[in-house]
This record gives sequence, C-alpha cells and structure tokens, in this order.
Amino acid sequence: MESEDRPIGFFDSGIGGISVLREAVKILSNENFVYFGDSKRAPYGTRTVENVRELTLNAVEFLLKKDIKALVIACNTATSAAIIDLREKYSKYMPVIGIEPALKPAVEFSRKGKIVIMATNMTLAEEKFNDLMKKYNKNSTIKPLPCPGLVELIEQGIIRGKKIEDYLKVKLIPLKEQGIAAVVLGCTHYPFIKESISKIVGDDTPIIDGSKGTVQQLKRQLVKYDIVNKNTGRLGSVKIFNSMNSQDIIKLSYRLLREKIS
Ligand code: DGL
Repeated sequence: MESEDRPIGFFDSGIGGISVLREAVKILSNENFVYFGDSKRAPYGTRTVENVRELTLNAVEFLLKKDIKALVIACNTATSAAIIDLREKYSKYMPVIGIEPALKPAVEFSRKGKIVIMATNMTLAEEKFNDLMKKYNKNSTIKPLPCPGLVELIEQGIIRGKKIEDYLKVKLIPLKEQGIAAVVLGCTHYPFIKESISKIVGDDTPIIDGSKGTVQQLKRQLVKYDIVNKNTGRLGSVKIFNSMNSQDIIKLSYRLLREKIS
C-alpha cells in the first residue's frame, strides 16, 4: 500500500468521536479512515486521569496495528489526560492531533452573557482546560458545566426526546435565565444532541464544537508530514471498530456518521 493510502486513525472513549470523523470524511473525502471506540469502558470522564491515560495508550496500540499514518484523539477527556504522552511517543512518526473545547470562536462572537462550556468532569478539572480558561476569561464570563450521565445516554443511541431534554433543562434553564452568550460543546458526544440543546437555549444562541478546528488542524498536519492522499478521483473508506462485542454499536456508529450536520 502506498504510504499516503494508509488510513487516518480516530479514537474516542465511545461513539462520540464519530462527530469529528463525519467532519473529516466531509473535508478530506478521498482519505481512508479507521475508527476505534472504547464503548465497553465508557464513560472515561468519571475515571482517574491515570486510568484514562492507560486506556488511551492501549487503544492507540490497536489503531497502530491498522497501519495508520496519522492519529486523531477525537475525545476531549482522553486528550486532556494523554496527549502529551502520545506526542512524546509518536509525533516523530506521524501527526498526533487532539481536541479541546472551542473557546476561541465562542469568545469571538462577543455576545452578552455567559459562555457555557459543557464537558465531562475530567476535561473541566484538567490543567489543559484551566490554562485555556485563563487565556480567555479576562473579557468574557466563562461558566464550566460538567454533564455527568449525558455520555451514557448518547452511548445508548438516545440523542433526542424527553430523557435528553429533561436532563438538559435542569442544567441549562437556570443559566438561560442569567443570559447565555454561546454554548461550547467540550465533549465529542454532544454534537449529536445539538438540536435538543438549541431547543432549550434558543435558536439564536451559537452552539460551537471543536470538530471543524480539529479537522483543519489534521489537514495542515497531513501537508506538513507530506502524507496527503493523492488519489483524488474516488471517495476513501471508513472502517469502524468498537471494544464492545456487538453489531448494534457498530450499526449505531455508521448511523451517526450519516446524521445530518446542522
Ligand atoms: N467523547 C468524550 C469527550 O470528548 C467523552 C468522554 C467520556 O467517555 O466520558 O470528552
């Protein structure tokens, strides 16, 4: 296989990273992709940092066996726990891209009210996020909003309806009353429930996720490492693997990959 034909590896604690993969498939349509979701051990956000680091390094070993040419950690939680170690180990050989809450575009909207960052407890507690927050909280009011339990619902394929909306109402209505400038989705599972979030915070409130920025970064890195797939005449392939030994989770993953991006 030509070295540029090798797939780009995507990892998430479960099916959330599919929200980043679908953006990559759209922008880099002739590239080949391989995705691994660790749904068996999700959620990662309630585990210890050491444990998430270990699980992430193991998952990456799986992707390396698929002969990947680039690595995308499509999980905010795993990025905050393991990206330094991963870069130290692998960036000599391939691009290693992580994801973080897209605070910058939210600040640039310059709207009145709080910027609400929905994420897992771990992402919000880690140094990486706190450094990001220090950078932007001088001129904006940033409100971190941990959402334990939400990943579990999405992992079951529950992305709309009463259960999700009831959960979101409890979290978001008190903040809406104080004024929300923008909502940042700091977990790759949450773009799948964007429609329900929008219903609660209002259509005019921007809801931002990091997938576009992450895919742009991937694109730049493919150029930098000189590994862009030159095969422009055809669409690339997508192969999805999951630690849960079930066809249902694979089917759900492909269904989410085809969900319309709003
Ligand atoms: N998709 C992961 C993220 O972006 C979810 C983490 C979890 O499994 O708790 O943070």
